[in-house]
Amino acid sequence: MNITGNTVFIPGGTRGIGLALATRLQARGNTVIVGGRNAAALDALAAEHGFGTVVIDTSDPDSIVRASAEVIERFPEVNVLVPMAGIMRAENWRTPTFLPDAEAIVTTNVLGPIRLIAAFTNHLQSRPDATIVTVSSGLAFSPLRITPSYNATKAAIHMLSESIRLQFGGTSVSVVELVPPSVQTELMPGHDTDPHAMPLDEFVDEVMSLLESQPDAHEIQVERVKFLRYGEARGDYDTVVATLNATDPHAAAPAR
Ligand SMILES: NC(=O)c1ccc[n+]([C@@H]2O[C@H](COP(=O)([O-])OP(=O)(O)OC[C@H]3O[C@@H](n4cnc5c(N)ncnc54)[C@H](OP(=O)(O)O)[C@@H]3O)[C@@H](O)[C@H]2O)c1
Repeated sequence: MNITGNTVFIPGGTRGIGLALATRLQARGNTVIVGGRNAAALDALAAEHGFGTVVIDTSDPDSIVRASAEVIERFPEVNVLVPMAGIMRAENWRTPTFLPDAEAIVTTNVLGPIRLIAAFTNHLQSRPDATIVTVSSGLAFSPLRITPSYNATKAAIHMLSESIRLQFGGTSVSVVELVPPSVQTELMPGHDTDPHAMPLDEFVDEVMSLLESQPDAHEIQVERVKFLRYGEARGDYDTVVATLNATDPHAAAPAR
């Protein structure tokens, strides 16, 4: 992906990784449109940063269709889609009470990106140079005990990215998978101050540098994610899983 001169839509860019990426991309000469559920937060971001904004709830198919059409109409040059919105919740699969959380996680983390890509696929292929930046996780490759559905949704995003990259072969659309390690954001309670998680600015700086130095990369992997990403390939998967879950600050929390 060329990291300048694009028009980038980031649904799920009102805070965390999405917002940090939005500010970096804007600073590098890209037009950025941020999407989220909170209209007041979007207005504040527009006033502070000059982003384009659109209200979107990526768990709602109608909202995705409406907001995507609005983005394409207001910003017809849009050529990069970053389906960033995601949720992560602890679950206890030993009781059936996990089900509502599991359904919400699948709806936002898997159906959300699928529906967004469906809404943009024609438009992106009409652009001379377009990119879909999917967002998976190191947990797509090594499981965190307390978040089964989250881990599974991110594994689904990894395999979707691998698969649709094949389908978009020979078109103007590239597929790049961002594979974050644990990063200090508000994704889960206390996660923004978790000493085991990577500081947000450090993470996004490394991402920008990788996007620039590896314009043809299929995956954007900061150094810190390689422990989780390559356990199976290295042959130390069991150790990775044991270590990941031993250092998980939520591991001792009572299961809900
Ligand atoms: N932080 C990590 O450790 C980590 C690691 C690997 C992958 N990731 C992935 O990175 C992405 C961003 O996460 P983050 O860490 O930056 O979390 P975050 O700080 O909680 O930000 C999540 C963003 O998604 C938006 N969002 C959530 N549900 C939405 C919905 N239904 N409709 C529209 N927007 C929605 C939120 O906006 P509102 O709630 O205000 O609407 C917010 O802007 C997620 O896909 C996450 O799975 C994060």
